[in-house]
Amino acid sequence: MKLSPRLQAIADYVPKEAVVADIGTDHGYIPVYLVSNKIASRIIATDINIGPLENAKSYIDKKNYGEFIETRLGNGLKCLLPNEVDTIIIAGMGGHLIAEILDNSKEITETAKRFILQPMVASAELRRYLYNNDYTIIDEKLAKEGSKLYEVMEVIHGKEKIDKDIYYEIGIKLFENKDKHLREFIESKIKKIEKVLINLSDTETAEGKLRYEYLKSKLINYKEVLKELC
Ligand SMILES: C[S@@+](CC[C@H](N)C(=O)[O-])C[C@H]1O[C@@H](n2cnc3c(N)ncnc32)[C@H](O)[C@@H]1O
Repeated sequence: MKLSPRLQAIADYVPKEAVVADIGTDHGYIPVYLVSNKIASRIIATDINIGPLENAKSYIDKKNYGEFIETRLGNGLKCLLPNEVDTIIIAGMGGHLIAEILDNSKEITETAKRFILQPMVASAELRRYLYNNDYTIIDEKLAKEGSKLYEVMEVIHGKEKIDKDIYYEIGIKLFENKDKHLREFIESKIKKIEKVLINLSDTETAEGKLRYEYLKSKLINYKEVLKELC
């Protein structure tokens, strides 16, 4: 079974013998991949919605992996018990929701060792939450699918301080690892901001003017880090 680059990047962070929870599993591709490649032998695949959970369950049953993968209906980590898993995957959701899921179940996060997080939006807000709540991002990579780039983070417990605000927006590990998609990632952020700035350029409201100034300074920061990449 071949995973998409985004799902493969997530699965690649799971170490052998891990006991995994895949929160918001939907299709169930990650649990099935981890079992069929003998990376994990016990997985709890959860979803808050019955439809996606049923999808996952029928895929797992079709592959005959029901013995290794248990499906559970529930919100975030609420359907887990402390010490049940050592690795928690939360992927394909917004950064705010991922942070909320972690924050709402500290009794579960405390007993897990490793978190593999893949926000679709609001990654800066997620990093801010992690740094403010004694998590360390030990690795990060970009996965490319078509023209889209996805941020995938490997996180453990532990205090970490970052010395530049830009590292909330663009993970420091992407720079340290010289991620092969980093330049393209920053360029796409610059393009998005430039588009918004054009739309905001004749704004008359105080709020619009504030946003314009905020985005302009963000653009300068992005351009500076892009220059440093050369
Ligand atoms: C876009 S899918 C992502 C599926 C898969 N994790 C991936 O990365 O491809 C998001 C899934 O998360 C589920 N979900 C949303 N909020 C959730 C929550 N609070 N707890 C558990 N699952 C949730 C949705 O029902 C949906 O199936």
